[in-house]
Amino acid sequence: MIFITGGSGFIGSNFVLDWLAAENEPIIILDKLTYAGSVNPLDTATHSHYHFEKGDINDQALVKRLFEQYKPRAILNFAAESHVDRSIHNPNHFIHTNINGTFCLLETARQYWLTLNTAEKTEFRFLQISTDEVYGSLKPHDAPFNESTAYAPNNPYSASKAAADHLVRSYHHTYGLPTFITNCSNNYGPYQFPEKLIPLTILNALENKPLPIYGDGLQIRDWLYVSDHCAAIKTVLANGKIGETYNIGAHNEKTNIDIVKTICEILDNIHPSPLQTSYTSLITHINDRPGHDRRYAIDAKKIEQELQWKPQVNFATGIQKTIQWYLNNLPWIEDIKSRDVYKQWLTTHYVQMEKS
Ligand code: NAD
Ligand code: TYD
Repeated sequence: MIFITGGSGFIGSNFVLDWLAAENEPIIILDKLTYAGSVNPLDTATHSHYHFEKGDINDQALVKRLFEQYKPRAILNFAAESHVDRSIHNPNHFIHTNINGTFCLLETARQYWLTLNTAEKTEFRFLQISTDEVYGSLKPHDAPFNESTAYAPNNPYSASKAAADHLVRSYHHTYGLPTFITNCSNNYGPYQFPEKLIPLTILNALENKPLPIYGDGLQIRDWLYVSDHCAAIKTVLANGKIGETYNIGAHNEKTNIDIVKTICEILDNIHPSPLQTSYTSLITHINDRPGHDRRYAIDAKKIEQELQWKPQVNFATGIQKTIQWYLNNLPWIEDIKSRDVYKQWLTTHYVQMEKS
């Protein structure tokens, strides 16, 4: 049994679907179903293989009960508040979930782990899903982040993830809890909530709405297709060295403006605008994000060489698949677009960005 937190979010639901398709081992999911959670992806999953519990990773009694009831051999913490812009508007939830929540999971996992017999104790794993954003921002000629790069988070989201990573590290060094941390670059693919750059651009284009670019759009992100991330997590879980951290990335540095133009060009070909103009005409530069990190890039040599993981999906293929997935899954998109919380975000955030 594997215990997954945040299994109804973007990466968590992709992980759960991939796991259930390939493995016989069942899964218990704990997810609060915040605005970013959606049970729809799991409708297609084999129900006998997974159990779902709605709840907060800060609910220690609930987490304890799930450990005792399901006796998992591992816990993978995907649960988080994950959007940088929201963390700038209101960091409270980020501290609650990303820091306090991870602490609650660590402490409850440790107490459960202490009750296990020697063989079970040796087998147990705590895997923290983290981000490259904890390393801060790179200059144009800096080498990509590796596992020795010092943490230098620049916004409340990345600071909260960095704090959580430090707690995980301390639980290994102090108590011997068998932990891993994975730091990966920007993911894209099916089921990503359309507040993030790629799905927001696809959805706005389909509605002929402006495609917002913060500042000059020359900021760089290093893009990783979500199924490659999920495969890397499985590899670390199976073969990682206890107490280690692993950077995960696919050597795909792109500027934001290039990403948005690529999406427009693909849509121009496979789903032309009814207005008979290129979607690129919708690109709109707005004020920059405060404290915007200029460049992220991952050096993934460690996981590639020590654990023989390699990304399988190049960007040209991955972005085509992603756009096609959104075009094929309009009911999922309509459900999100109908939520007040989503409409409010689009109106308040982008109006403020244009004014600031
Ligand atoms: P997401 O926002 O799509 O999903 C987060 C999930 O966590 C949602 O289902 C939400 O309901 C759940 N959740 C939030 N607060 C909770 C709480 N207190 N208790 C229980 N469940 C809660 O996020 P994502 O993009 O799938 O990211 C998953 C993990 O990967 C996060 O830890 C994130 O920091 C990390 N990460 C994401 C990216 C990326 O590009 N998306 C890149 C690197 C790392
Ligand atoms: P995002 O998808 O929010 O991921 P992150 O901030 O975690 O990297 O943003 C990716 C990049 O795109 C980032 O540099 C901010 C930029 N961006 C825009 O230019 N416009 C937008 O509307 C959004 C959401 C992001």
